[in-house]
Amino acid sequence: MLNSLWATIAVTVITSAGSQESGDEVVRVYSLQRGVWTTPSTTVFLRYEMPGSVDSVDSLSVCYRIRLERFTEYNIHLSYAIGDKEANTLLFYNMATKMLAFVNNLQQNLSMERQLEMFPETWQHLCHILHQGRHDVYWQGQMFSQGQVSNPLELPLNGTLILGQEQDTLAGDFAPSQVLHGDIAQVSLWDRALTRGEVEDLASCRRAGRGNIFSLDSSAVEVSGDVPVAQVALQELCRTSPHYLVLPEKRSVPSSLTQCHLLNATMTVPNSSEDNSRLRTALVPFMSACSSTPWKLWLGVTDAKSEGVWANLNSGDIISYHNFVAPFPYGGTVENCAALFPDGTWGDAKCDLKKCGACELNPADFLHLRGLCFENDHETRFRVEGYYSGRPLFRGYYDLLILWDTKSAQWQLKTTSNRTLASYAPSDLEEYPLGARIWQVRSLLCGTHEGGSLLLSLSACTHHHFMCRSGHCIDHRYRCNLRKDCSDGSDEDDCGVVVEGEAYRRHLPPPGPMDSAPLRLVPRVTLMRITAVDTVNMAVTVDFQVQLKWTDSRLTFTHLENTRKVVMLTHEDSDKIWLPRYRFLNLRSGQVNLLQETIQVSTATSPQLPHYNAVKMDLVYPGANNPLTITQDYMASFACPFSFLSFPFNIQTCSIDLLLQPTYEGFVEISVSNQDVAFTGMQELAFFSVESTRYSPESGGGLLRIEFELHCYGGGMVLGLFIPSLLLLAASWASLFIRWEAFLERLIMSISTLLIFYLLRLTLMQSIPSSMIIKLIDIWFFFVIIILFINIHIHIFAKEEIKTDFASQNKPLFVRPAGGAVVIVSDSAKSTPMKVLHLYRGIILPAVVIVFNIAFWLTIIILR
Ligand SMILES: *[C@@H]1O[C@H](CO)[C@@H](O)[C@H](O)[C@H]1NC(C)=O
Ligand SMILES: *[C@@H]1O[C@H](CO)[C@@H](O)[C@H](O)[C@H]1NC(C)=O
Repeated sequence: MLNSLWATIAVTVITSAGSQESGDEVVRVYSLQRGVWTTPSTTVFLRYEMPGSVDSVDSLSVCYRIRLERFTEYNIHLSYAIGDKEANTLLFYNMATKMLAFVNNLQQNLSMERQLEMFPETWQHLCHILHQGRHDVYWQGQMFSQGQVSNPLELPLNGTLILGQEQDTLAGDFAPSQVLHGDIAQVSLWDRALTRGEVEDLASCRRAGRGNIFSLDSSAVEVSGDVPVAQVALQELCRTSPHYLVLPEKRSVPSSLTQCHLLNATMTVPNSSEDNSRLRTALVPFMSACSSTPWKLWLGVTDAKSEGVWANLNSGDIISYHNFVAPFPYGGTVENCAALFPDGTWGDAKCDLKKCGACELNPADFLHLRGLCFENDHETRFRVEGYYSGRPLFRGYYDLLILWDTKSAQWQLKTTSNRTLASYAPSDLEEYPLGARIWQVRSLLCGTHEGGSLLLSLSACTHHHFMCRSGHCIDHRYRCNLRKDCSDGSDEDDCGVVVEGEAYRRHLPPPGPMDSAPLRLVPRVTLMRITAVDTVNMAVTVDFQVQLKWTDSRLTFTHLENTRKVVMLTHEDSDKIWLPRYRFLNLRSGQVNLLQETIQVSTATSPQLPHYNAVKMDLVYPGANNPLTITQDYMASFACPFSFLSFPFNIQTCSIDLLLQPTYEGFVEISVSNQDVAFTGMQELAFFSVESTRYSPESGGGLLRIEFELHCYGGGMVLGLFIPSLLLLAASWASLFIRWEAFLERLIMSISTLLIFYLLRLTLMQSIPSSMIIKLIDIWFFFVIIILFINIHIHIFAKEEIKTDFASQNKPLFVRPAGGAVVIVSDSAKSTPMKVLHLYRGIILPAVVIVFNIAFWLTIIILR
């Protein structure tokens, strides 16, 4: 509509300042350097010489409205110079979405974090108010940024004002990268500070607001170059009306909907008769291309859900406006979609028929072209605007175009200066170059020579999404989650986790946290089972697991996000990276069985967004924040020097000694600060219990010594050996108290105790480690056997002595027992042998047994 205005309305009326201050004013809109193929020119601008008579001002308000067609490096809004050296007296411009300004030749410190939400073909209203040392910037009527300027301002008003170019000297030295491509209107300068309310009125088109120093609508502006000017009702500048794009290929309704979606747009649903006629106007050029029937253009409405109730296909909402004219709709449940007739009325039809579609574009929505070498994110932006060769034209925010070339049947990536950079020949001619496609390079492009190919992608997906090959966006967490989420399944392709750089060398250990510090491996050892304790060969067989955790800051990972669980590396991945290597020092037969090995990344922290030029849109997880873990399950026999001296009350300390490869020395170390070691198996074995699993204090550097104690069960032996042998001793002792005449009974009894003890010993010997080393238990056996033997001999010798004694009675006798103490036995009571016997059974034997026991158990306690 505006286009036609520019073409037809000649500027005849110059409204004088202040004559009209109401909403139905008209303003002049100057169009600078517009057009698809326009190359920036330094000769297109507006110029105004300030009358020198005005003195310097100490307050100034500058307001204007601009609409960019495309961006350049510097989008100059306004430049005011008072001399060659003072060419930046005032300079207002934007770079991408940053607002920038110079006042009195000084770069202004505007709040840089704030971004202008500036989209092509949308009007932006800006005001700079310089007053009392402050520089307030209003954008769309709202405070945007506050800065400072020198106070007093002292700005002479005898310089040159240039719109659309930047003066490097007074009214000269223009550069092609410092131009305005687009429209400018309502430029006004006041020598006072506008109030917030005045700014709001201007921004919302309530007042045209003509400045008392300068107004683009009333001052005599000198036009250089081809600058169309149009008189436009002020209200037009604040009106937003839907932007329709006809898709001039034939598609079914679902497929049209998908295309609109891929174009970051919705399928058109006119909301008023005005919208409807605009859509009809948009259809006119494609009338014959769209369909041979009167049903030309699909609308985004359906009554599939509930017959007769028409709903918006994009949102599902029931529509309030329709333009069906009887007899339509007439298709009942068979025809559930609606199409536009050439006269603008609607008719229903079957949804799978092929017709043109139409999308409704929002100026704030855009696509990203990825895979090139742009210098900032803003340059990746593309929008669909207008047509070229009868098909939609994709226009970059800067100077790139993607257009359909009918002759070669290719989509071409071109510059606005008509240089072809790359081309893509679709297999299906109806296809748009959306999603990931391989393009043929036609002239040197981002380091790829002519004839080479480049993978480029064009889609609406932001960094926060993953782009399916088709151009659909899905959340990162659906990537590589073992489910097909893209309709083409591309979310499950390329699911390797490890990304190693060019400079990665897998034989080199990763650097430590600080450059000079060695890498620290954090161990975690689990002893799962002690399957055998071989006391004869002095070895223990253990099932155990060694886990080592480290970080490799040279790596990055992808696809960690889809699961909260750990991510196992595949063989392909683990073959790419450095893994810690170690060996065991005290293996018994030199053999170790590695049962299982897994390498994992167990966290997914600090994801980084993909680079704006990256076609592969995966989150990247730095290796420094996401440690790797290698877990190895082993079964192995370890030598363990057993000491049986205090058997069966001994405690054995066995160990598993693990040593890192000696070449790591100084580069890799084991950190044993945490005692992350445990025994998880059955603690009670046949003869031992497993206790106090720990890292030995000798661990550190490259050595990790895992110690555990085997406590031999003394209790069983006490019940099975010590108590029975004490009972046998008691029985043998008791035999000494039997009547002297019953010699045979005494003998049998004492001999049986010896035999029983011998049997007991025989059975126990099998469970006692056999070695030639003298054990305390051997001393016990020896002692008990000696005592039992002595008792038998006492019985035998006593018998002989008593016999002879009965023959020669009344002979006094002195006895010297072994201790050397002389005991005089009264000859009147009993015979001498009897006295010896009494002494032996009453004192000597019990004393010897007690003393031996005390000594024996004390030794055991001390040895333990
Ligand atoms: C356009 O893309 C952006 C970013 O992906 C999205 O937020 C927005 O909803 C899309 N708009 C439409 C109309 O699909
Ligand atoms: C662009 O260049 C091609 C050939 O190089 C030419 O045919 C075409 O007319 C040019 N287009 C414009 C708009 O200059």
